[in-house]
Amino acid sequence: MANNSLAHHRPQWKTHIGFVLAAVGSAIGLGNIWRFSYLCYKNGGGAFLVPYLIALFVVGIPLMILEIGLGHKMRGSAPASFASISKRWEWLGWWQIIFVMFGIVLYYSVIISWCLSFFFLSFNLGWTQDTNTFFFQKFLMVSKGPFSIGDLRTPIVFSLLLVWLFNWVIVFNGVQKGLERANKIFMPLLFALIAVIVFWSLRLPGAKEGILLYLKPDFSRLSDVKVWMDAFSQIFFTLSLGFGIMIAYASYLPKKSSIVRDSLTISGINCLFSLFAGLGVFAVLGYMAKTTGQPINKVVTESIGLAFVAFPKAISLLPAFSKFFGALFFGSLVIAGLSSSISIIEAFTSGIVDKFHYSRKAVVSVLSIFGFVGGMIFATQSGLYWLDIVDHFLTQYGLVIAAILECFLVGWIYKASKLREHINRYSVGKLKGWWCLCIKVIAPLVLVMILASSLINEFSKPYGGYSRLAIILIGRDWLIYTLFFALLVASYPWRIEPKERMLT
Ligand code: ALA
Repeated sequence: MANNSLAHHRPQWKTHIGFVLAAVGSAIGLGNIWRFSYLCYKNGGGAFLVPYLIALFVVGIPLMILEIGLGHKMRGSAPASFASISKRWEWLGWWQIIFVMFGIVLYYSVIISWCLSFFFLSFNLGWTQDTNTFFFQKFLMVSKGPFSIGDLRTPIVFSLLLVWLFNWVIVFNGVQKGLERANKIFMPLLFALIAVIVFWSLRLPGAKEGILLYLKPDFSRLSDVKVWMDAFSQIFFTLSLGFGIMIAYASYLPKKSSIVRDSLTISGINCLFSLFAGLGVFAVLGYMAKTTGQPINKVVTESIGLAFVAFPKAISLLPAFSKFFGALFFGSLVIAGLSSSISIIEAFTSGIVDKFHYSRKAVVSVLSIFGFVGGMIFATQSGLYWLDIVDHFLTQYGLVIAAILECFLVGWIYKASKLREHINRYSVGKLKGWWCLCIKVIAPLVLVMILASSLINEFSKPYGGYSRLAIILIGRDWLIYTLFFALLVASYPWRIEPKERMLT
């Protein structure tokens, strides 16, 4: 029983399915639809599934159980949960939610705003025949480099405003009336849209060749350490781990909850969704290769280009209902993106409300204004460079370092066995000893190896061919400044001790 009235007043999911859909909504995002497909193609097709599944079982699922178990036990946001274990580690929770709120969600919302603009454009296939020139030169008007900021792109700013309005309305309305209700609409709609897209694409001529290319395993790629790094960082990003989201979401669960079963369900649905969406993406690319007579590897472009260059081109080439198909595709991306961005804002909001007891509505309103204004840099002509550098540092380093420390804190300081006992006391499914071994030894060891390889790569060649100055000022310093703010917020005293909210 919760031993304090605070715990009783904590918002709660109205239904169990509401929680599962919200967590699935957070996990399924822009990353599932185009990032996964592209990574799969780039990293040896079907062979990429080997490191991807290993990452899922060795790190993804154990950490999902850890985050949901911890949020359930501590009944608090990431900072409150870590502070309940040890006040010295509170900064870690703040750091996660600060770099995710004032980093990931800023550029993530800008990508959703591109999708929204492309959704509107699809009604008259406004991206023209030369989609490459349209996207980079007319839509983004990309400048020469990250320090040539250029002007704000008005159409992007307009869509960004709409995205933040959606974010604000949903999170403002709270756990049940906002997040739960939105995801109960978003998720079934997204599944239906993706199913239509995939079944439609599979019937196109050339679809089979596209899918063969997507899934044909090239096992020789597995000897490349970058393939493994991509698989592990994709698992973090796609499952929203290390963001502090699952901890906050689980803190709204009722006492009797099946943590293990829910963790498996959320991770499973997310990964199957990626695989399934990839079928549609590659079927369409196969069709485009067949129609234009180009080899398929010529029609697949880089990560961002896949969704905003290759796909619009393919949509224009469709024999019928191309505008409708375009609206379906970009509409799905907007929904997938929004259900993830609201979860990030919630993770931060719950941290502030837990510690400072400000009104939730005021916090969400201020955050949405900051989010919109802060995201402007990514809506300038240099936005693409900024986005690329910030994303690289926050996902490859921020999320991985946060996860290593999370394993250390829960595995060794709090003790994995204690959390396992808690999970087993309340859950229906029982967690076995392998989980403790994973959290204490295997996951951190693998993650340290991944981190070391990323660092070696970083020092041997600056990421993406950018100048060292850009890498340091935009990438590395983003992590350092957010860490500074995290330490600052953590140094403030609690009005009510975080431990008070814990389930005993
Ligand atoms: N999990 C979210 C995604 O994959 C952030 O886009």
